[in-house]
This record gives sequence, structure tokens and C-alpha cells, in this order.
Amino acid sequence: MQHVDLKEVRSGAYVGQKITVCGWVRTSRDSKNVAFAELNDGSELNHTQVVFDKSKFKDDLAPVLALGAALKVVGTVVNGQREGTYEIQAESVDLLGGSDSTYPLQKKRHTMEFLRTIPHLRVRTNTFNAVFRVRSELSYALHEFFHKNGYYYVHSPIITGSDCEGAGEVFKVTTVGYDPTVKSEEEYNKKDFFGRSAGLTVSGQLEGEVMATALGKIYTFGPTFRAENSNTPRHAAEFWQVEPEVAFADIDDIIGIATDMIKYITSYVLKHCAAELKFFEERFEPGLVAKLQNVADSDFARIDYKDAIEVLKKSGKTFVYPVEWGLDLQTEHERYLTDEYFKKPVFVVNYPRKIKSFYMKQNPDGVTVAATDLLVPGVGEIIGCSEREADYDKLLKEINDRGMKLSDYANYLDLRKFGSVPHSGFGLGLERMLMYVTGMSNIRDVIEFSRTKDDLK
Ligand code: 4AD
Ligand code: MG
Repeated sequence: MQHVDLKEVRSGAYVGQKITVCGWVRTSRDSKNVAFAELNDGSELNHTQVVFDKSKFKDDLAPVLALGAALKVVGTVVNGQREGTYEIQAESVDLLGGSDSTYPLQKKRHTMEFLRTIPHLRVRTNTFNAVFRVRSELSYALHEFFHKNGYYYVHSPIITGSDCEGAGEVFKVTTVGYDPTVKSEEEYNKKDFFGRSAGLTVSGQLEGEVMATALGKIYTFGPTFRAENSNTPRHAAEFWQVEPEVAFADIDDIIGIATDMIKYITSYVLKHCAAELKFFEERFEPGLVAKLQNVADSDFARIDYKDAIEVLKKSGKTFVYPVEWGLDLQTEHERYLTDEYFKKPVFVVNYPRKIKSFYMKQNPDGVTVAATDLLVPGVGEIIGCSEREADYDKLLKEINDRGMKLSDYANYLDLRKFGSVPHSGFGLGLERMLMYVTGMSNIRDVIEFSRTKDDLK
């Protein structure tokens, strides 16, 4: 259908010309001699006003003015009342798809909770239109960053036989239903599609390491799945991760790469999503743009895990969860470190081995690993990062000590047998980054079709 995107109309190039535009009616107004419809076609956050001189239209305009209706309008572009705005003086209009008073997005401000009940329509609101435009731009910026820096984009499988994080949060993939005659789990798994147990991947890292130990610098970018039983505003059962993996890189190298990446994508969004960020600043997070500008311009903090524990102990705060060397940092601890103590992104480095994953490089002290989480104000952890254990014997012992099934990790161990190299990588949760960039406080509102515990629409 030949037409001009409304974003192009805003460029001003079409003033005085007769063009065709399409879009959905966001708001409308009807008066005696003229009617107005604010049209949006998804090409930008702003709406474009279409003016109907009623003397030129014989038919009743009510169906054309219904909220949610889809229109095709032929008309002349004129300057709007405010500088830099343009209107369309309609000459003819086609009602492509009608709407009526049962359309749920009538003229009032809806709660986020209500909007979550209509995932198929909420993207037609300004808020979600903006969120998903930023999501698209952020994803593109990630690809651009890695491509410009010589990384290869590789595709790790969705169905896997191993649990990368070893946290037992794998969704089972099966075609075999309940069978009372089966005597053991082993027998049950044998009857299944792959002749063994299978699950949805929690991370593309293990395959990423395979690729990096041949291609050098790679990244994966795709959906990952976790059957986490935590009903929080930051956990989803299905979320997207970008996971670079770099050969010949140690923990300091990878921290540098993570920093550059976050700065790059933040700058990109500041430049390409200015209207959306202004909108989020007004509606959701005062100071958002200055916060992001600061991320793009200044260094991140870095603190050793053991020092972070001391900072928390000396904070004078009463935390719900205990603060002790050897215990994981809870959200409240992360929030204190980022929101109150550092007031900017911080890498917490050298966590105790026992609370982290099996694959992390063991530090010479024997009790910590070369691992770091990047914590940011308002959200908490957005990146999980580490140098990988490159020593065959140490890795083998760790797998055995943790009671993991050796045969599932045989190929992974081979990487340490043949041409093992120091290598490092990390995973950035795309939705967590989006929460940080948009100021949205619930992960359910930055993923269009969110999947969380007890909730799949
Ligand atoms: O810290 P995680 O578990 O690290 C890994 O999966 C590593 N294998 C990554 C790597 O080194 N290649 O997860 C990485 C990030 C977290 O920092 C967080 O941003 C996000 O993934 N994440 C989640 N996001 C939403 N919902 C969940 N349930 C998430 N779990 C992790
Ligand atoms: Mg983590």
C-alpha cells in the first residue's frame, strides 16, 4: 500500500504536497465544522494530526474518529500550530479497520497491571510503543558494537543436555507423558525423544566457549529460559541474553569489554531514542537522561566482594538477609551498594567459589573465583561475568565435587585438553538493561509477551 511514514512527514519535506498516510487513531475530537484525529503508525512516538473539514465529507465521520480505528488518509501536508509540527488536511479517508466503544484503550490513563492483561493491545499505547522501539534500537546497538569490534555472531542451541549454571532451573523438554509402568528416571529418559533428558538452555555460554576457542571473539544473542520460582519484578522465565566469549582474555580484559559495551549501547540509545527517553523521564524516572549521560561519560566503580561485605556491615542499615563473607548478595544489599553507596554502576569482583558457577576460574587463594557481577542503581545485577577455568584438572574436580554428570560436560572438558587458553565472557540480561534504560520497574513491561511464574498469556 503506497504511503508515507508519519515520521517522514515530520521531516517537513512534504509541506504543500498531497500524500497518503496510514495509521491508527490514538485520540480524536469532533466539533461543528471540523474534526481531528491524532494518527500513529508506529514509525515514531509522536502522533500526527489529521484535520477533516466536515463540509468536504458527506458520510458520517464517527467510525473514522473511533479510538483504535485504522485509517488510510489522502491529504495535503501543512504547517501545524506549534513550530516543527505538521498536520494533514484530509481530502479523502478509507476506514481500513473499524473499532468501537469496547476498545479497551479509551481516553484515560491505564495502570500497568491492567495493560498486562491485554498484551495484544498494550503496544498501541505511548508507553509500550516507546519501550519496544527502544528494545529494538538497543538490540541493534549491541549487534553494532560487537560487529564493529570484530566479533562473530554465533547461534547457540535452544535445546540442550546440560545445565550451564548448575542451578537446576532447567525447563524439561519432553514428548513422553506420564507412564506408571516406567520403573526409573533413566528408563523414562531413554523412552524420550532424544533418548536422554533434555531441557531449554539457561545460557548459551558453554557452546559460546566452543566457538570462541576457534573463532576467537564471538557473541550469542537469543532467548534463555529459567524455571526460577521467584516472583520478582526482575525475573522472567524467558528472557534474552547477549553473551560474548573471548579467547586470550582475562578477567580485567573482559571487565573492560563489558564497560565499553554498556557505554556504547547507552550512547546509542541517547542519540537514537531521544524522544522516547524524554517521555520516560517525564512519566517514569525523573533524571533518567542525566543518569544515562553519566553512564556514557564516566567510569564505573569496582569493589572486591570482601570489601563490599565490609561496606554493607558498616552501613548501619538493618537488612532482612544476613551479611557475611560466603553468603550471596541479596537485592537489598545490591541496592544499597548501587543506589546509596556508589550511586553508579559497580563491578563486584572475586566472589566466593561456593556461591558461583562451576566453570569460573579459581583464584590462587583457593576460595574465590575470578568472577564479577555488574550492579546498577534501581535494577541490581545486569551482567554476570567471569574468566573461565582453563585448567583441566581443576575443572574436572569441580564438576565431580558438585555431583554434576560428567558425561554431559565431556566436550566442554575437551576444550581444556586441546589448546586450552585463558578466556572470559559474560551475559547481559537484555530486559534488565532495558529496565535501566527506560526506568520501567517491572520486567513484565519490557518484554512484549512476558512469561513469568503462573503467568502465560
Ligand atoms: O548471571 P547469570 O546467571 O550468568 C550466566 O548465565 C552466564 N552463563 C553468562 C555468561 O557468562 N555467558 O545471568 C546473566 C544475566 C544476569 O546478570 C541477568 O541480567 C540476566 O542474565 N538474568 C535474568 N534476567 C531476567 N530473568 C531472569 N530469571 C534472569 N536470570 C538471569
Ligand atoms: Mg548472575
